[in-house]
Amino acid sequence: MSDPATPAYGRTVDARRIGAAPQPAPHRVNANLGAATVFDIRDVSVHYGSFRAVKGVTFPVAKNEITALIGPSGCGKSTLLRSLNRMNDLVPGARVEGTVAYRGKDVYAPGVDPVEVRRRIGMVFQKANPFPKSIYDNVAYGPKIHGVPRSERDGIVEDSLKKAALWDEVKDKLKQSALALSGGQQQRLCIARTIALSPEVVLMDEPCSALDPIATARIEELMVDLAKQFTIVIVTHNMQQAARVSDKTAFFSTEVNEVSDTRTGVLVEFDDTQRIFTTPSDERTENYVTGRFG
Ligand SMILES: Nc1ncnc2c1ncn2[C@@H]1O[C@H](COP(=O)(O)OP(=O)(O)OP(=O)(O)O)[C@@H](O)[C@H]1O
Ligand SMILES: [Mg+2]
Repeated sequence: MSDPATPAYGRTVDARRIGAAPQPAPHRVNANLGAATVFDIRDVSVHYGSFRAVKGVTFPVAKNEITALIGPSGCGKSTLLRSLNRMNDLVPGARVEGTVAYRGKDVYAPGVDPVEVRRRIGMVFQKANPFPKSIYDNVAYGPKIHGVPRSERDGIVEDSLKKAALWDEVKDKLKQSALALSGGQQQRLCIARTIALSPEVVLMDEPCSALDPIATARIEELMVDLAKQFTIVIVTHNMQQAARVSDKTAFFSTEVNEVSDTRTGVLVEFDDTQRIFTTPSDERTENYVTGRFG
């Protein structure tokens, strides 16, 4: 039987986080200002050409926490996630306004190297995308192109595969093709490949959507474990997943402009995960998390 004092939602919810002063923002943002802030996202809008996909987003991301981005399809979760490590630079016509401060420094400031940004802020995608190379070479690839000497790479490969909870399954076949692994193993390999670069943040865009419940549970356990070392921001359509693993949740929705017939993603509410799933302050959040909308 569950202990009524134990929160049903959120990973490490504690009283410290609840009731912190709201930040000035168009949407409700309740942040734990005591924890070290890794990202300070301020008034961020992203356009694709003349289309504004998401507007006016403000929220912080705290160190060693898991922050979940949730909301209906098309509300700009992936767009916002990609703006955190300048992945949108690679999309023709994409433009980011506002400030994405990472450890106090705007990642879009002149002189900032986007390659270095993406090393520190790694990304794992929805569909596992290993290179058509061996398991070893997939993990060693990043360190190799960043100039890590060959003599250090064996150690990095082993360490990364261990952290990604894949080592035991692959240690005897490191030279085999990564494409022969199962979907869940491939996704853990992609996580190993990302953490081989010693990032500080790992962004994950629906990393479990192509996986079965067992592989999903493994990745969820892994995320909780990885958050001890890394800061994680995850996009998920799985409400239970957001509730189970994340500390903070940002709920996005879409505003429809009837005149121009355009839809723009907005952040409705950002708060402790427990609060978003039990006592959200916005009716739209409540409707979404209870399954009445979206
Ligand atoms: N490369 C692109 N070029 C033009 N428009 C885009 C591009 N990528 C996304 N969009 C548009 O931006 C809006 C937000 O898309 P985004 O992929 O960020 O949504 P999402 O919340 O991640 O949706 P889903 O849950 O379906 O993945 C959508 O209207 C989408 O069509
Ligand atoms: Mg998406």
